[in-house]
Amino acid sequence: MAAPTPLAVHADPDPSFAELIAGRPHLAMDARDGLMVEEVPLARIAAVVGTPAWVYSAGSLRRRARALNGALSGAGLDASVHFAMKANDNLAVLALLHREGLGVDVVSEGELRLARAAHIPASRIVFSGVGKTDRELRLALAEDILQINAESAEEIAMISALATSLGRVARVALRVNPDVDAKTHAKITTGRAENKFGVPIDAALALYARMAAAPGIEAVGIATHIGSQITAGMAAYRAAYARLAEMVHAIRAAGLPILRVDCGGGLGIPYRDELAPLPDALAGAIKTTLGGLGLPVMLEPGRWIAGPAGLLLASVIIEKKGARRFVIADAAMNDLARPAMYEAWHGIVPVSPIAYHAPLSPADVVGPVCETGDTFARGRDLPALPAGEMIAFLDAGAYGATMSSTYNARPLAPEVLVDGARFAVVRDRQSYAALAHGQRVPDWIGT
Ligand SMILES: Cc1ncc(COP(=O)(O)O)c(C=O)c1O
Repeated sequence: MAAPTPLAVHADPDPSFAELIAGRPHLAMDARDGLMVEEVPLARIAAVVGTPAWVYSAGSLRRRARALNGALSGAGLDASVHFAMKANDNLAVLALLHREGLGVDVVSEGELRLARAAHIPASRIVFSGVGKTDRELRLALAEDILQINAESAEEIAMISALATSLGRVARVALRVNPDVDAKTHAKITTGRAENKFGVPIDAALALYARMAAAPGIEAVGIATHIGSQITAGMAAYRAAYARLAEMVHAIRAAGLPILRVDCGGGLGIPYRDELAPLPDALAGAIKTTLGGLGLPVMLEPGRWIAGPAGLLLASVIIEKKGARRFVIADAAMNDLARPAMYEAWHGIVPVSPIAYHAPLSPADVVGPVCETGDTFARGRDLPALPAGEMIAFLDAGAYGATMSSTYNARPLAPEVLVDGARFAVVRDRQSYAALAHGQRVPDWIGT
């Protein structure tokens, strides 16, 4: 059993259920039907797919994609958005976002294959990641995707050799590590010198020149990513993008080609009451630093697009009362890993209108997995939640289902997409048979 993970303690009171709902326009509490996603009561979804289940709002996904695109075009930027599908790789979500004009940012062969299965054209796919295998790069080259973001001299050599042997030309951007502190959680910061990502900025120009001269490679630009869940304002973005702008000038001064800049850095979302910057602020930071270069820019957000658009619906298995009050849900850390992994705070709202209005008292909300770290919240003010009551874990549309595992042999939860008054099950609950699929006991063990 692993050591318990302490959850962050907040001195100020948590937002109320009403405040949580008010901040999420796709949610409503109906006096008769309880918590709704758009026009669909969660109780109706649970009656069809059971719990735990992931529920996404199509309207929220669309609104967020449009808000980001609108902010970028409003700032006069020639920008394209590639959804970081590590945040949510459901085919229906990818297809919906593609219809909103988004491409995808992939980090593995599996993601590349899922993106193609969602009919995202190769020309809208960027491949990021610090360790792409030979096999993954072959597939990217065979598919002729828009861009590969190279992260090291070794990877550039690998891409050049592979592309040459396959008779292909790889469009490659060099990922630069700008060494800025985005003041986010240590586990999701990506742009500091000590992080594994990208090449050091002072070595980048020489490497870019080498890349531009390498056979089988078309050097198309530079890329960066400074971290995820950034809520500390725009200073880190501006610092990082200013460094990219300097590098563009240096690349041009050296007579080398450059076609675009991929300026990654994950806008944070308010899980609790964080003051997260809005897309307009990000667009402004890009405009002031990179806007004068006359180059198109690319962005690769995941969390900001999908996080608030989803929730994890769960039922209470049992409410255990003693020195502490434990609400034991049928969702666990294998479903929503963020609290155990990053001490993350998620809003927890009762689904029934009666529970919603009932008196509150502090409870620890936990899952049934055999780890003390399987704790979603400590001392959270909640109404009485007897067995069978449902609760919703908010803002679970990003890094929710994609980070799930089958730990404790718990099948992966189904995914549901709501659009207005209709909903569709966009991924079935994994079967118990699937847990044993592909496993075998060799004869020499015997039965
Ligand atoms: C290279 C890259 N692109 C995009 C993302 C997505 O970040 P976010 O979900 O915070 O927008 C990440 C996340 O860490 C990343 O490392």
